[in-house]
Amino acid sequence: MSNLYHAYGRLSGKFSMVVLLALLGNQAASAQALAPQLGKAPLKEILAALTTEEKVKLVVGMGFYPAGFPEGILPPSDPADRKVPEKVPGAAGRTHAIARLGIPSLTLSDGPAGVRIAPIRGGDSTRTYYATAFPVATLLASSWDTELVYKVGVAFGSEVRAFGIDVLLAPGMNIHRNPLGGRNFEYYSEDPVVTGNIAAAFVNGVESNGVGTSIKHFAVNNQEFNRMKMNSQVSERALREIYLKGFQIAVRKAQPWTVMSSYNLVNGTYTSQSHELLTALLRQEWGFKGLVMTDWYGGQNPVAQLKAGNDLLMPGTTAQTQALLAAAKSGQLTPAQLDANVTRVLELVLKSPTFLGNSYTSRPALPADAAVARQAAAESMVLLRNEALALPLAAGQKLALFGNTSYNLIAGGTGSGDVNRAYTISIEQGLSKAGFSVSSPISQAYTQYLRAEKAKIPPKKTFFEPVPVIAEMGLDAATLQQQAQAVDVAIVTLGRSAGEGGDRKVTDDFTLRADEKAMLQQVATAFHTLGKKVVVVLNVGGVVETASWRNQADAILLAWQPGQEGGHAVADVLSGQTNPSGKLATTFPMAYTDIPYSQDFPGKVKAGAAAPANSLGGQESENTYSEGIYVGYRYFNTFQKQPAYAFGHGLSYTTFAYGPLKLSASALNDKLTATLTVTNTGKTAGREVVQLYVSAPKGKLAKPVSELKAFAKTSLLAPGKAQTLSFTLTAADLASYDTAASAWVTDAGTYTVQAAASSVDVKQRATFQVGKPVVVAKSRHLLAPQAPVTEMAPPTASK
Ligand code: BGC
Repeated sequence: MSNLYHAYGRLSGKFSMVVLLALLGNQAASAQALAPQLGKAPLKEILAALTTEEKVKLVVGMGFYPAGFPEGILPPSDPADRKVPEKVPGAAGRTHAIARLGIPSLTLSDGPAGVRIAPIRGGDSTRTYYATAFPVATLLASSWDTELVYKVGVAFGSEVRAFGIDVLLAPGMNIHRNPLGGRNFEYYSEDPVVTGNIAAAFVNGVESNGVGTSIKHFAVNNQEFNRMKMNSQVSERALREIYLKGFQIAVRKAQPWTVMSSYNLVNGTYTSQSHELLTALLRQEWGFKGLVMTDWYGGQNPVAQLKAGNDLLMPGTTAQTQALLAAAKSGQLTPAQLDANVTRVLELVLKSPTFLGNSYTSRPALPADAAVARQAAAESMVLLRNEALALPLAAGQKLALFGNTSYNLIAGGTGSGDVNRAYTISIEQGLSKAGFSVSSPISQAYTQYLRAEKAKIPPKKTFFEPVPVIAEMGLDAATLQQQAQAVDVAIVTLGRSAGEGGDRKVTDDFTLRADEKAMLQQVATAFHTLGKKVVVVLNVGGVVETASWRNQADAILLAWQPGQEGGHAVADVLSGQTNPSGKLATTFPMAYTDIPYSQDFPGKVKAGAAAPANSLGGQESENTYSEGIYVGYRYFNTFQKQPAYAFGHGLSYTTFAYGPLKLSASALNDKLTATLTVTNTGKTAGREVVQLYVSAPKGKLAKPVSELKAFAKTSLLAPGKAQTLSFTLTAADLASYDTAASAWVTDAGTYTVQAAASSVDVKQRATFQVGKPVVVAKSRHLLAPQAPVTEMAPPTASK
């Protein structure tokens, strides 16, 4: 630069400045032209051109500065990064750009129920940036409809793309091990086959827009308690068959762009530092081709993370950068290792919309996506109970709506699973719009009450803060009496909110609070005395106790947390506009204590564990997965425990007949096809979810009495119409993980296939033989527990 300056020093005035700037510009341009550019030069040349500092930048994100987090709580990142304007304000993270090599910064955003970004942008008062709040994951899984979930994914991904985001941090796919799991609403099911297939459909839908997903949290992150320091101790068999299998299915069927490792340790090693999990299993055994990133601030040792195959450390801290630079210098982190991680970051960049220069409008098709959200919600809600055909409501009936959440619908959960949406349709609005007459004295009383109660709530300080509970309004007996006379039906909505950072509690959360019980009791007595019906709507993100109060309800609709269009979707189902066809993808137990491992959930702080440095850090803790593979219905059915509502249960306004179950062969060779015809035998058009369970012969390993292997949903069948469904079974579908042999093995013997309307409602059976044992896949000891996990033994009859 100084030579240039002297050479042209004689020139003066405006003209000389112009020439100088042009020359400087050319010099910069030619330096850029000399440097290889991503996408034009082979990756090898890019790697050769990157300095070690630049490589480390690529594997460490640009930090995280969420609104509402007190300064100093989160580990610091490079202050210079903070000054670089965010492409999408409110997104969860971004990667570093290396401009001289044509490498742009990528933007990553939550989350499972809708694109989570800031709805208002500083300096831009002209418009808003709302995203659609789709129904939560647990609701989507209750559809048992991979086409529907694909459609949700397509709409969802179009918003990811419209906002200029590269990777969506979803879907969450941990197993519902226990109803109290604080993030269960972000996850699909207690069963890995449902989880894996629904997740694959979602990923394929989102990624059809040319944007990425991140299946999370890999793996065994089934509770929030001390989540960053929780050591989950699990047997190899339970890992393979329950906790990893859903991820395996999603990788096989959708090959997502990225995987997010979890916060916890599995059998003594942080998942983000586990080479066995991220490389030996995920990449080498399952064939995953994409990138692995950490959960935000997850793990402890950045060098171990890169070596394990965790390529990107999110959101990125200065300490990580320094540790990696020091390790690169000392040789502890080899150039080959760093290059392998950087290569996967660059491969992700290469397919990203930002790199490809896709234009984006920040104007997603909100009305069209809202329609998808509504359809998905209505088609996935589960009708748990419908005594004497209390539902559907007759057109134009007069209704009285009780319960806070009739007026304030809970669209979704809190934390990173939350969505900044433009509106939420309440159940009151939905029912009114659908032509029902909603009692105004009651609705006015609730509106006033809720306004006053909300005014007392201090503003939320941090993003993890749970939504404060507003007690139910006391009901005046005379008003209630008068209302019971004036209207036709009572609707009582019960709501629950949960979210990241904490698990739920049994008292007053899994079970009803005293104020809720009193409300339900009063309403039921007043209405039933006059022979009028009471319908309960459950607006919950997770399982609640129902056995003690369900007799007070004529009908119970499990609406889950149905997204911003929830009120319309509830009205669609209550009115019969949509015939409910959702089924439970997670068991509703009679009592909390019926869940195995219920007393010990969510684990305990280790003796002598240091006090947490701050509330986010947590304390070293552990929990033992002593129920092994007996999670959810596998436990209830095998141990003959009666649930309140079984896995797979869900009623319809019509009835279905199951024709005979036909198998393509009486012995399994390569694969076998099961077919059956389902007929709508009722008076209303409807859809039926058919579940295929298999009972295995007695063999070396104990097995659940039956396990879900496949499922399918009919299209909308008019009364009298039938549809033939077919399912494919392979030896791999039947295999169990034999730890001693480190192999997936299918025993020889007689297998019984069951076509069922729920896990306890088997309609048709057929049998086939497996001639000799098949070793479906050979593996090796991976992720073995530090000490053998003592697991409960199933009753001898089922062994
Ligand atoms: C959550 C992730 C989320 C990330 C970024 C973490 O606290 O566990 O699920 O994607 O934050 O917001």
